[in-house]
Amino acid sequence: MIADQIKAAVRDIPDFPKLGIIFKDITPILKDPSLCQGIVDAFAEKLADTKIDVIAGIESRGFLFGLMLAIKLGVPFVPVRKAGKLPYAIKQKVYELEYGTATIEMHTDAIEPGQYVLIHDDLLATGGTVTAASELIIELGGIISGFSFVIGLGFLNGKEKIEGLSDNIVVLAE
Ligand code: PRP
Ligand code: MG
Repeated sequence: MIADQIKAAVRDIPDFPKLGIIFKDITPILKDPSLCQGIVDAFAEKLADTKIDVIAGIESRGFLFGLMLAIKLGVPFVPVRKAGKLPYAIKQKVYELEYGTATIEMHTDAIEPGQYVLIHDDLLATGGTVTAASELIIELGGIISGFSFVIGLGFLNGKEKIEGLSDNIVVLAE
């Protein structure tokens, strides 16, 4: 099963980037092309009935499978980036972190009004990042058609946070 393959490949790094956090390192997945292919195929299968005009991938690890999936589905990929990286006209969203705030940005022409947007990231933790991305996409006129994640950390209740935005949440390994 793909979930078991993902769990076997992910490397847990204790106390990174700070004490008490167990970091999920996905780089071993990326070294395994057949597992990467399996992940993209599993997403495509689970999203077969989802209307997707555009995939929005979250910087930076959401770019990896986000673009692969967009190519597989034959739809455009648009990046949701950290502040100050996008060169054209942008719209931004500031959101709360445990300590302080973070800012994400998208190009104003990334989404056409009325387009159905799948939001992709590698990992669902608190759901704060994809919630902010959803708000930005809605402000640009997009419709959230679902979310996809390679890994979900269930104990942080991210699913509960985002299910009001779309209940179409695909998590390959929980
Ligand atoms: C991690 C992860 C998700 C986000 C999940 O990204 O890749 O994007 O945190 O957290 P949340 O659900 O609590 O919002 P990180 O900020 O470490 O950056 P990176 O992807 O650039 O490595
Ligand atoms: Mg990330």
